[in-house]
Amino acid sequence: MGQAEIGLIGLGTMGAMLALNIAEKGFDIAVWNRTTATTRAFHAGAGELAERIVPTETLEALVAAIKPPRAIILMVPAGPVVDDEIAKLTPLLSPGDMIIDAGNANFHDTDRRAAAAAKGGPRFLGIGVSGGEEGARHGPSIMGGGEKADWDRVAHILRAIAAQYEGVPCATHMGPGGAGHFVKAVHNGIEYADMQMIAEVYGAMRDGLGMAAEEIAAVFRRWNEGPLHSYLVEISSEVAAARDPIGGGPMLDMILDRAGQKGTGRWTAIEAQLLAAPITVIEAAVAARNLSARLDERQAGEALFGAAPQRLPAGMAGGLTIDGLEQALICGKILCYAQGFAMIGAAAKAFDWPLPLPEIARVWRAGCIIRSAMLNDMATALTGAPERNLMFAPAFAEKLKATHGALRQAVSVATLNGLPMPALSAGLAYFDMMRTARSTANMIQGQRDFFGAHGFDRLDGANSHHGPWGSHAAG
Ligand code: 6PG
Repeated sequence: MGQAEIGLIGLGTMGAMLALNIAEKGFDIAVWNRTTATTRAFHAGAGELAERIVPTETLEALVAAIKPPRAIILMVPAGPVVDDEIAKLTPLLSPGDMIIDAGNANFHDTDRRAAAAAKGGPRFLGIGVSGGEEGARHGPSIMGGGEKADWDRVAHILRAIAAQYEGVPCATHMGPGGAGHFVKAVHNGIEYADMQMIAEVYGAMRDGLGMAAEEIAAVFRRWNEGPLHSYLVEISSEVAAARDPIGGGPMLDMILDRAGQKGTGRWTAIEAQLLAAPITVIEAAVAARNLSARLDERQAGEALFGAAPQRLPAGMAGGLTIDGLEQALICGKILCYAQGFAMIGAAAKAFDWPLPLPEIARVWRAGCIIRSAMLNDMATALTGAPERNLMFAPAFAEKLKATHGALRQAVSVATLNGLPMPALSAGLAYFDMMRTARSTANMIQGQRDFFGAHGFDRLDGANSHHGPWGSHAAG
């Protein structure tokens, strides 16, 4: 009988790093990869951790090397490959054995796989793992989904390998079925938005203020010492500071402006629409990535309509300041997270998942890509009031009051000068809509009643009223 505590399939970068992390934390781990040469090379390169790693060359050998009831982590590309691996493993497993999908699965797939498990397949956990290569090796943030009893069986391993925030492991069970992968998807949507908003203020500095990459790097470095302290601001300063090993100039200036994506941000935007949960900042960020990919069209557009000014005319730039941009970014970030957490709250209701909002903010405090100082304050603000929109939590309402003027200023000056700020603008519009007691939807209701007799409620209380549209009404 095998003795390894856990198994892992898929020794790509993330799988290999996770396996080393598990071995380093003192757990014996059996590993298998489709290509045996990869398994051998991985084991040979594992140094002193090799003694905790059991390399196997067949799935049968992998299964035999693990202590029952077994737990086997899948670290393979999301999608059909996961189903293939489950199908190959299932006949080899015994009752009580468990498969853990630690990839970036679509949470609907995880729900489907969890439902199959409930009908008698192997136990199944879908866990969202964030932190990239470095996180996987030294401490990711882990968002668990599936049956709590199954999570509890492996929680000691997952907590041991997770990032720690002031001694608290960033690994939490989020709810049944696809709940963990759902929370990971929202994390990724926020990741897209955080990155886009940073790119927008970078654009304001580069194109609006005419700053060089090194100067922008210094600004991000300084911001990272303040309220914006975060992994993404930190790496942005490093990206802006790096030199091109070929030409010697700033590396950033040589990178093609066409952003890639694997699709998780898009899943979040789609799901938000289905949940009727406005995450306009994330949606704008997803759209911005898609627009960035249309390089040919953008080039044609510039030829046809002319480029936005490369540098704002003197006088205009006065409205754009480094300190103002910092405040604008703080404001946009709060609004984006308010939307993201509200979406999680909407999903909790719609799917009947006990999604623990304050805990979600806590597991995002370390290890993951969106980790930031602000998340600790968000965890505090969400504690005891998880259903309240974060923008109404007193601590964040105060911050919004102090910063929304700067966001307005940045977006206005940028807009007047043709510098696109889609995500920050979306945040500002959300803020303005959320503080408008008398909106313009009365016009929408009038239109709906006019053409479709859909009815409307009156301000004086009468419900399902119809307008006096008379012979003009089509419906
Ligand atoms: C993480 C990241 C990661 C994601 C990459 C690439 O939390 O570690 O979210 O899971 O896959 O960042 O994402 P895109 O290719 O979609 O940008």
